[in-house]
Amino acid sequence: MISHPDAGKSTLTEALALHARVINEAGHIHGKAGRKSTVSDWMDIEKARGISISSAALQFEYQGSVINLVDTPGHADFSEDTYRVLAAVDSAVMLVDAAKGMEPQTLKLFEVCRHRRIPVLTVINKWDRPGHDALQLMDEVFAKTGLKPTPLTWPVGIAGDFRGVLDRRTGNMVEFARTAGGATLATMTTLTPDEALAKHDVHWQTAVEESELLSMDDGDLDLEAYRAHRATPVLFGSAVLNFGVAQLLDALLEIAPAPDERLDESGKPREVGAPFSGFVFKVQAGMDSAHRDRLAYIRVCSGTFERGGVVTHSASKKPFATKYAQQVFGQDRQTVDVAFPGDVVGLVNASALRVGDSLYVDEFVQFPPIPSFAPEHFAVARALDSGRYKQFRRGIEQLEQEGVVQVLRSDLRGDQAPVLAAVGPMQFEVATHRMKGEMGAEISLDRLQYTLARRTTKEWVAELDRQSGVEVLLRGDGEWLALFADTWRLGRTQRDFPDAVLEPLVASAD
Ligand code: G4P
Repeated sequence: MISHPDAGKSTLTEALALHARVINEAGHIHGKAGRKSTVSDWMDIEKARGISISSAALQFEYQGSVINLVDTPGHADFSEDTYRVLAAVDSAVMLVDAAKGMEPQTLKLFEVCRHRRIPVLTVINKWDRPGHDALQLMDEVFAKTGLKPTPLTWPVGIAGDFRGVLDRRTGNMVEFARTAGGATLATMTTLTPDEALAKHDVHWQTAVEESELLSMDDGDLDLEAYRAHRATPVLFGSAVLNFGVAQLLDALLEIAPAPDERLDESGKPREVGAPFSGFVFKVQAGMDSAHRDRLAYIRVCSGTFERGGVVTHSASKKPFATKYAQQVFGQDRQTVDVAFPGDVVGLVNASALRVGDSLYVDEFVQFPPIPSFAPEHFAVARALDSGRYKQFRRGIEQLEQEGVVQVLRSDLRGDQAPVLAAVGPMQFEVATHRMKGEMGAEISLDRLQYTLARRTTKEWVAELDRQSGVEVLLRGDGEWLALFADTWRLGRTQRDFPDAVLEPLVASAD
């Protein structure tokens, strides 16, 4: 589930779970500050700011199928985290706010999905509130993403007057009725075209006419184009009123791809029926005070995961016992005994596991690495209380392993003053907050003036380091990063040392 912040991801996640009857009433599990609770947010900062930083994996059954839903942080500062999550999914649901249309993060995420070849279903959300014209929104999607919108449903009533949707494949109307605050399932009534016309008159007529226009313009579902990332099926809804949510679940079952073979690092497929394999796409700790531990999230790619079984860890080739495996659902956790391709399993206190590591049974497999983004913000971290240096070091290490921030070190700066590197400055806030609250080591951060990083090699370290306005540090994953104050400084270095290795890193918009 992806979107620009505030388009309604948490609300829709909750509504989906409600429809699948995981929870009986939306909003009773967990909460952001000052508003109704949602299933998938948990950290203090998230609550205070009302944004989601971490992603939750939510599994539910719907009409005989299992859906694994991962929520992603919406804020651009956490796009690296979103990228990791997207490495683990088979399809994405993009939420667009009907009043805001295509926002910057919407566009970036569409681009990431294209890059990773993830099919995208689009939901135009908040149709209960005044917003853009539906046809205009379709034009905007096409103009800005190059994806052909192929609506499955079409709204009856303009934004702000949401009566129901025209199911473009049956030709019937699904009429929605509000329940108190959208807290329980919305009632749906199916009306034949005649009944819809009698009851909704011009609103129905407009919907039918617009739907015909779409058909004339190649706007009908094309499964192959959707799977090949040339088209995006569209649904209209209101997450807060639970309108259109059943239609989204039905569409997911019907057209979203089920788990399929995955290519390993060398391009060789691992069939879903092969012995167990999976990879770590996220490591996270400190999700709530009751569980101060570290979870490695695995996406199962093939075979059957069995708790208690022994698998092999690709990076060390060592056996790894899967005794503590859990499913995480908001604050709730359940022990998982078996899991299948497409499932997400949280392995507890699996301290050897890093993002990108693979696990397997039998034949070796290493799935493609998940790239780190090019950091653009840098700050030196120091323990405020030098007596707590041990906690400081352990805490920084932990944040590094989770990918909360990247950690850069050099002999010159020493272990007491590592450089934290981030894609967005809010990552620093999270790091500071967690160092104090969880690791027991308050830190100070001194921002550095660098804005650019390039990958270099060991033989260039000394030479580059001598230049003013340039510093070379070693990142936790073994990459040497040369930091520059600005493009001018980078350009000058490139001119002065035309042979120097200075490669761009993956940018957040890739
Ligand atoms: P996010 O996870 O994508 O950041 O979005 P989130 O679900 O937190 O929703 C952001 C705001 O949009 C919330 O309002 C939420 O209630 C509202 N919202 C979500 N879906 C709909 C919808 O379909 N229609 C309308 N009208 N609003 C919707 P808030 O002001 O932050 O909180 P609240 O006090 O309204 O709950």
